[in-house]
Amino acid sequence: MTQLLKDKVALVTGGASGIGYETARSFLREGARVMIGDINLEQGRKVAEELSSLGDIAFVENNVTAEASCQNAVEHTVKRFGRLDIAVNNAGVIGETKPLLELSAEGWQRTMNININGVFFGLKAQVNQMLATGGSIINLASIASKIATPSCADYITSKHAVDGLTKAAALDYATMGIRINSVGPGVIETPLLGTIGQTKDAQGSIKHAIGMHPMGRVGKVGEVANLITWLASDQASFCTGGYYPINGGYLAQ
Ligand SMILES: NC(=O)c1ccc[n+]([C@@H]2O[C@H](COP(=O)([O-])OP(=O)(O)OC[C@H]3O[C@@H](n4cnc5c(N)ncnc54)[C@H](O)[C@@H]3O)[C@@H](O)[C@H]2O)c1
Repeated sequence: MTQLLKDKVALVTGGASGIGYETARSFLREGARVMIGDINLEQGRKVAEELSSLGDIAFVENNVTAEASCQNAVEHTVKRFGRLDIAVNNAGVIGETKPLLELSAEGWQRTMNININGVFFGLKAQVNQMLATGGSIINLASIASKIATPSCADYITSKHAVDGLTKAAALDYATMGIRINSVGPGVIETPLLGTIGQTKDAQGSIKHAIGMHPMGRVGKVGEVANLITWLASDQASFCTGGYYPINGGYLAQ
C-alpha cells in the first residue's frame, strides 16, 4: 500500500507524550522522517529511541516559548533530514484550572506563552523554511477553541487564539504552497488529563467536559493522529485555514 507521507520530513513539537507521540508514530508508519521536539529531554530521547524501529526519527530540545529555540528546532531538522515538509505545533498545557478570580498572573502568562506564543514562534520559523518548498502545518486547537468550560479561562482563551492565528496565517501564505490548519480534539485520554488540578472546580470542569461527548466516551490519541496525518498529506491538498473537529459529536449540540 502507498504510504501517505513517503519521503516527507516532519517536525512535531511536544512530541514526547500523548498526541504528539502518537502523531510521530503515525508519521513514521506512513513513511516520513520525523524530528520530535520537547522540553522533557529524558522522555524525548526515550521516545525517539523507542520509535526508531519504525523509521528515521530524532529528538531535539525545544522550548516553544522561546523564538530562538523554535528557529533552532527547524534548523536542526533541516540539517538532519535535508528539508521540512510538515510541522505540527502540538506542545501545550492545560493551565491552572481555577475560576477566573483565582488565576494568577504568572499562571495566565505561562499558559499563553506555551499554548499561543509557542504556536506563533513555531509558525514563523516553519513558514520561513517552507517558503521555498511549500508544506503543511497543523496546530493543536481544541473544542476549547469554540466553546468554554468552567475553571479554564486561560486554556480557553489560548485555544480560541490558536484558531484565529491558524486562519490568519493560512491566508498570508495560501498562494505560496503552504497549508495551515488546526485540529480540535474533544477530551482525549493522554497524560495531560493527569495534570488537571485536584480542586472541586477543576475536577467538576473535566467531568462536565467528559460527560458532554455524545458518543459516550473520550477520544484516543490514535484517532487524533489519523486526522493530523491526513491533513499533513497531499490528500488534503485543497485544505487550508480550516478547523477540523474531532470530538465524538461534542460541538454538534
Ligand atoms: N488531551 C486532550 O484532551 C486534548 C484535547 C484537546 C487539545 N489538546 C491539545 O493537544 C496538545 C497535546 O496535548 P496532550 O494531551 O498530548 O498533552 P501531553 O501533556 O501528553 O503532552 C504535551 C507535551 O508538550 C510538552 N511541552 C510542554 N511545554 C512545552 C514547551 N514549553 N515546549 C515544548 N514542549 C512542551 C510536554 O513535555 C509534553 O511532552 C496540546 O496542545 C493540548 O492542548 C489535548
